[in-house]
Amino acid sequence: MQKDNLRQDTYLVALQRRFEHDWEIEENLLELAELATDAGLNVIDSFVQRRDNPDPGTFIGRGKALELKQIAEGALVIFDDELTPAQQGNLSDLMEAPVIDRTQLILDIFAQRAQSNEGKIQVELAQLNYLLPRLTGKGAVLSRLGGGIGTRGPGETKLETDRRRIRRRIRDLKAELEKVRQTRALQRRGREKKDIPVVALVGYTNSGKSTVLRALTGSGVFVADQLFATLDPTIRRWDLKDNRWVYLSDTVGFIRKLPHTLVAAFQATLEEVTYADLLLHIIDASHPQVAEQIEAVNRVLQEIGAVQPVISVYNKIDLIPDPPGIKVPDQTISAKTGENLDQLTEAVYNFFSSKYTVRDYFFPFPQLGEAQQLRARGHVLGEEFTPKGLAIKAEVDNITASILSSFEK
Ligand code: GTP
Repeated sequence: MQKDNLRQDTYLVALQRRFEHDWEIEENLLELAELATDAGLNVIDSFVQRRDNPDPGTFIGRGKALELKQIAEGALVIFDDELTPAQQGNLSDLMEAPVIDRTQLILDIFAQRAQSNEGKIQVELAQLNYLLPRLTGKGAVLSRLGGGIGTRGPGETKLETDRRRIRRRIRDLKAELEKVRQTRALQRRGREKKDIPVVALVGYTNSGKSTVLRALTGSGVFVADQLFATLDPTIRRWDLKDNRWVYLSDTVGFIRKLPHTLVAAFQATLEEVTYADLLLHIIDASHPQVAEQIEAVNRVLQEIGAVQPVISVYNKIDLIPDPPGIKVPDQTISAKTGENLDQLTEAVYNFFSSKYTVRDYFFPFPQLGEAQQLRARGHVLGEEFTPKGLAIKAEVDNITASILSSFEK
């Protein structure tokens, strides 16, 4: 952990248009401060400039930029909105300070957190696409990425080579990503063939998804009190009861104002969500902006076209035992203490059980081998040998029922 005196001093700047409420700007700045702190920066202060239309050259206006220059004294300045490459360059020159925007900050955090090969490729691709239009002559932008915030970027020397090389790198990364996607699709088809349901955890960043995954599946996935600890989908087996189990998959944390370029970059990761049979929306019940976070997650789900049933799961009830706004069939849990995890498991079990029916089968001796299919796909409740073959009572889903219909008694 870095000590504060080693952390880079940082100022935050937001623009407030006439139609934007004070509380909206405050919330955005609060979240930006949280992100900056999470990236290892030391936030000193934040500023709001009221203006209906951003200045095309300097975003907040030349006068305000010069005013901020006096205050920031060369410290890092982060803008809450996305800046054009020209604005970023001009502001940096005017203020004689490094200037970045929310997108670049989020990219940097993503770069720090990406764990798997796929995550790293996606982040580098997003970084290069973001940087390409910013390569025009503004040396300051590039060298800044070599030190302080952005150190995990594609690196100074690489960026200072010509754009052709970057374009080639983008092409290669895309091809690599395509390969990873194909492997993922293959794995997904493998899972679908086995007909085991997939449950996906979704939720605002830091709501506790990784902790929930670990608590439910007993696996040691990486958990950290950092935003975006999860950039790569992690899939584990979750045993419900009576030998019934499902796949449980973790996904990247959602966030308000997630830049569109990033949503696109993480499309592959989010794709897992759209293939799931059931979503568990993990909510940090103790967070002061809980309603806004729920809304932000619902919006992203809509954007990626997720239409599956959702169970709302209010987490962290060890901090707030009776969170307001709970309605049936919402669940309340603490992934940390394990409270109510049994109830959640039961709810998911019931959700899937309603899709199963109990049927009687009979396999004559010559076709005894077929019983293996039933054992693999269904849930056997009883078996009995008769002089002519094997009788099995089993709980099956509709697909299994149709496959094995000729063996039904
Ligand atoms: P992202 O990867 O950013 O999307 O985060 P996440 O949703 O996977 O959250 P994670 O599991 O990393 O948890 C975030 C923080 O919340 C960690 O410090 C956890 O220890 C903490 N946390 C998770 N569940 C609980 C809980 O039930 N109670 C309390 N008190 N803390 C919790």
